[in-house]
Parts: sequence; C-alpha cells; structure tokens
Amino acid sequence: MTPLPDFYDDLDASLGHVWRLLEDGPRLRHNAFHMPTLATVDARGRPQVRTIVLREADSRTGTLRFHCDRRSRKAAEIAATGRAALHGYDTPGKVQIRISGPAALHTDDALAEAAWAGSLAMSRVCYGVEPGPGSELASGEAYTLPETDEAIAAGRPNFCAAVVSADAIEFLFLDRRGHRRAAWRRDGAVWTGTWLAP
Ligand SMILES: Cc1cc2nc3c(=O)[nH]c(=O)nc-3n(C[C@H](O)[C@H](O)[C@H](O)COP(=O)(O)O)c2cc1C
Repeated sequence: MTPLPDFYDDLDASLGHVWRLLEDGPRLRHNAFHMPTLATVDARGRPQVRTIVLREADSRTGTLRFHCDRRSRKAAEIAATGRAALHGYDTPGKVQIRISGPAALHTDDALAEAAWAGSLAMSRVCYGVEPGPGSELASGEAYTLPETDEAIAAGRPNFCAAVVSADAIEFLFLDRRGHRRAAWRRDGAVWTGTWLAP
C-alpha cells in the first residue's frame, strides 16, 4: 500500500499542499489546476461554470489570476457580483480544491499590461474576435479573428486579467484508509483552518 502523504492529518501541511498544487498548476499542462473550473453567479442568480487557464497562483498574497475577454459573460458577472469561485480535482493526486473570494478585473493598469505582455500571440488573437464572445451567430463560422500583428494588438482593450483573492479554501483528499477534508478562512494574512467530516 502506498505510504500516506506527508500532509495527511496535518492541517498546516494540507494548506501548504493546496498552495503548492495551485502554484504548480500554471506550468503543468493537462493538470486539473492548470485548467480549473471558474464559477460565477449571473444576473438572475443562476450559477455559471466554465473552464479557464490558471495563469498564476500566489500563496503569499492568496491570489489566483486568469485572463478573459472583458466583453464575456464571466467578466460581466465578476464585475456585477465582485466574487468568483474556482474548483479542480487532480485525479492522480486524489485532491479536490475549492476556492472562493472577491474577484476583480484588471483592464488598463500595470497588472493588465504585464499580463498582456506575457501572453503568447496565439492567446492574444482571441481578444480580437468579432462579434464579441457569446454573440449569437447566423452560422457557426460567422465570426472573424484578427490576422495581422496590428489587428491582434487592436484587441488589447478587450483583454482583462481577473484576480481572485481567496478568502475561503476547501480541500478533500481521497484515500481508502480515510478521506481527509479541511477548510480554511482568511482574515487578513492569517488562514484559520479546521477538519471537516468528509
Ligand atoms: C481548455 C479550456 C481552456 C479555456 N481557457 C479559458 C480562459 O483562460 N479564459 C476564458 O475566458 N475562457 C477560457 N475558455 C473558454 C471558457 O470555458 C468559456 O467557454 C468561454 O470563455 C465563455 O464563457 P462565458 O460566456 O461564461 O464568459 C477555456 C475553455 C477550455 C475548454
């Protein structure tokens, strides 16, 4: 039988494991925390979920960053509610992470500029789609993407970096010898955690 992981029955180590998984996510393609699910609530109070690419997680600030089009529904929902949640389940590691907190859209500040500068050309193309994301089309191909460098650069006003400031984290580790579930809440820089019944 595989040995129990170091974080088993250690609340602080479990939180450390959560942040390690999140911080590793952006560089580990095909990993659950590379492409977590983002949840928001729409204007009618209905939950909405979709996959996003996690661009950065920072345990020191407790923040997670992803990129989206400011014309998108997710951007409108974040702007309206000021909150978002993220979820991922890593099958090999048997770890589910749920995160929620205040969320902000950065469109024309230094953070947005750095995020745009760090984006690949193939990613920047998406922000020049016309009509905007979610628009109804008469046929599946009735949209355009920019083709020249100049046209791709013109999509910059549509780009935004969204930052979720985690204030609640929940962790579930599955193991036949006993699942472990824990939750933490953040007050300032301090995380306070507790075990939960799985
Ligand atoms: C693998 C994968 C990665 C994706 N990454 C992003 C992303 O980083 N940002 C984004 O806005 N949409 C991303 N999408 C598309 C969203 O899941 C969604 O379909 C789209 O953004 C529209 O969502 P909305 O109408 O809720 O705004 C991704 C989809 C997939 C399948």
